[in-house]
Amino acid sequence: MNVNEIRKNFPILSDPKYIYFDNAATSQRPLQVINAVRDFYENMNANPLRGLYEWSVKATDAYEEARSRVAEHFGIKDEGELIFVRNASEALNLVAYSYGMENVREGDEIVVSIMEHHSNILPWQMVCDKKGATLKYLECDDEGLISDKELEEKIGKKTKIVALGQVSNVLGVSNPVKKAAAKVHANGGIIVVDGAQGAPHQATDVKELDADFYAFSGHKMLGPMGIGGLYGRRKLLEEMQPFLRGGEMIEYVTRHSATYAELPHKFEAGTVNASDANGLKAAVEFLDELGFETIEEQEKKITKILLQRMKEMDHVHVYGSSDPEKHSGIVTFNIDGCHPHDIASVLDGEHIAVRAGHHCAQPLMEFMQERFGMEYRATARASVYFYNTEEEAQRFCDALSKVRGWLGYGA
Ligand code: ALA
Repeated sequence: MNVNEIRKNFPILSDPKYIYFDNAATSQRPLQVINAVRDFYENMNANPLRGLYEWSVKATDAYEEARSRVAEHFGIKDEGELIFVRNASEALNLVAYSYGMENVREGDEIVVSIMEHHSNILPWQMVCDKKGATLKYLECDDEGLISDKELEEKIGKKTKIVALGQVSNVLGVSNPVKKAAAKVHANGGIIVVDGAQGAPHQATDVKELDADFYAFSGHKMLGPMGIGGLYGRRKLLEEMQPFLRGGEMIEYVTRHSATYAELPHKFEAGTVNASDANGLKAAVEFLDELGFETIEEQEKKITKILLQRMKEMDHVHVYGSSDPEKHSGIVTFNIDGCHPHDIASVLDGEHIAVRAGHHCAQPLMEFMQERFGMEYRATARASVYFYNTEEEAQRFCDALSKVRGWLGYGA
């Protein structure tokens, strides 16, 4: 892959002064995506699914073509099984409200991992609180790995739902989704996969993963903000009540009752986000054309440089595996004596963007503080994508080696 050629597709990356290492928070968008959104507004903007005139029909067609292309990307053959939502958080809330609240009973258990993003914890805390169920946590080892023993001990007959991130947004590690799916299915429960950090980095076939539900955000995989998806098995979706009501999600409404539209529209209340769906279609086309092998190869190349150089720096502590293959481009770290926010601020002075703080994973921060004796319940995080270069990795490391000095602690 010629990364400099690839970068030409991304207008925001044209100034080499800036190093964008906050891709786990949101990726950048190529022109193809920006143009697809623009094309929608310039050439077909009208309310989809309602109008009987040419623009509205075009808008509807664009929306449904986007669904079909995104479904293909995730190995979904039945397009009714792909619901467009705002983002992974909304998708997970939809499952918690429409499936969890209906199917979880007192005494049941819901199992999440200690590495989950708050978006895959809070909805399940809510279900457990309201239903008298128990929330259990799969814990990981020092490298972030969840053992077979842990799955064996925590997933059992009482488990109604396992909600597991495909990839941790802090440690970058891939979780044992297929093993967890087999275990929960053997016990009659279901698995909900949070694919927000997995979908941008790994070729994902939801059927192959054996997911009952799979949530993802478009904005982390080159797509626009405000569009994401939920895959769900048809049988489960058909049995569920709508999450939000109103708009074209109905079949027929009387004064005191309503029947609902077929899948997937039953779950898409209000005016749908057709412009961003069009952008998301362009995003998956871009990713598929590049190919996940190429994407992963470039991410590993950069991660390898980061891990090697950061290991050699006194006072820098990297968390997770020492193997670049197990990071999905995410390198989370601390520097002795420095608050992560200060690290991020001084790096910003060098035009380097990283995220710092709790990364919306406070239970993991607490766990890591106990396990590794971290000074703060927070870390700094560099997260790369395929358009980052080796030269950027070297410049980042050069800057990082000076951070302690800049903050007044000596080199
Ligand atoms: N979930 C995003 C992150 O990890 C925002 O930064």
